[in-house]
Amino acid sequence: MPSFSSRVERVSISGIREVFEAAGEDAINLGLGQPDFPTPAHARQAAIDAIESGQSDAYTSNKGTRALREAISDKYSRDNNLTVDPENVIATAGGSEALHIAMEAHVDAGDEVIIPDPGFVSYDALTHLAGGTPVPVGLRDDLTLDPGTVEDAITPDTKAFVVNSPANPTGAVQSPADMREFAKIADEHDILCISDEVYEHIVFEGEHRSPLEFTEKNNVVVVNACSKSYSMTGWRLGWVTGSHERIERMLRVHQYAQACASAPAQYAAEAALSGPQDPVEEMVEAFEQRREVLLAGLEEMGLTCPEPAGAFYAMPKVPDGWVDAVIERGVVVVPGDAFGERGDGYARISYATDIETIEEALDIMATATAAVES
Ligand SMILES: Cc1ncc(COP(=O)(O)O)c(C=O)c1O
Repeated sequence: MPSFSSRVERVSISGIREVFEAAGEDAINLGLGQPDFPTPAHARQAAIDAIESGQSDAYTSNKGTRALREAISDKYSRDNNLTVDPENVIATAGGSEALHIAMEAHVDAGDEVIIPDPGFVSYDALTHLAGGTPVPVGLRDDLTLDPGTVEDAITPDTKAFVVNSPANPTGAVQSPADMREFAKIADEHDILCISDEVYEHIVFEGEHRSPLEFTEKNNVVVVNACSKSYSMTGWRLGWVTGSHERIERMLRVHQYAQACASAPAQYAAEAALSGPQDPVEEMVEAFEQRREVLLAGLEEMGLTCPEPAGAFYAMPKVPDGWVDAVIERGVVVVPGDAFGERGDGYARISYATDIETIEEALDIMATATAAVES
């Protein structure tokens, strides 16, 4: 049998999937990374109209339809006070492909990429697939990433670092001052800051700012998607933006690996981005109420949980054996070490489910906590 590439052998299937497989069929699943809301009706309708009219039968331009890229550009003026040329946007198959092409276009064998630990599972894997070496760095006590930690980890081999705010798995939101500092570090050390902003709209405290606002040397690439903001994980529509030179290089990867993002999804995304934004606000309000219920319940059972300011995850510190005890009793949560070594001793709990279910899960978690601590 022909052997496999050493790059792929350095990557394994995410630990999250193993947890799902270990859980019983009627377990309460607090392990999911997707909102439990429908995609906005106007987004669905736009895809239906595009399909029925035959508009989405063919390839679009490699970067995506002009109308979608204009809607993305308008989103940056509306939400981020940034001017983004629609030419400097590539529509991708979700934030995942955007991260992939950013890594492929910038990282060579031997290059180091600094990533948050615990952090979203793709950063480590995509660095390996690009032939690079991930350099996981720890977080502050409040689970935000300290720009000083990133700067201390820089070596002559550092090519890039990843910032993710609001963050998966922690729910942490970086301050505007941190974001400014990340841009400064990228500029001063002439390395790339990959800013993963897929949870941008899900912020309860603080404010989302992008390092893209602060870079003076075009050393920031932003990854975003409709997946979380508009509950469109199944549509597979994201994008990447950055300087013309960077987009041109990322397009070379995208053109050969993907050709273009799915056309019906592009029409849906355009409608989601340019239509009424109330579904986003309603979803964020619901997440905030659920967060309160979850945090109160965790506190009541004596678990310490850095207060998540965004996304829809909480990451409490948990005693040894807690995750197994909870899963055995029928609630799926993800062990913190699925997100990096420093996640050991934590668990990720997703509250993208209704309050009744969260309350039911809390009762089970309280029983498990008592059992583990007895
Ligand atoms: C931090 C982060 N970035 C990127 C992604 C990928 O999102 P998409 O579904 O758009 O590929 C996820 C999905 O869970 C995520 O949590």
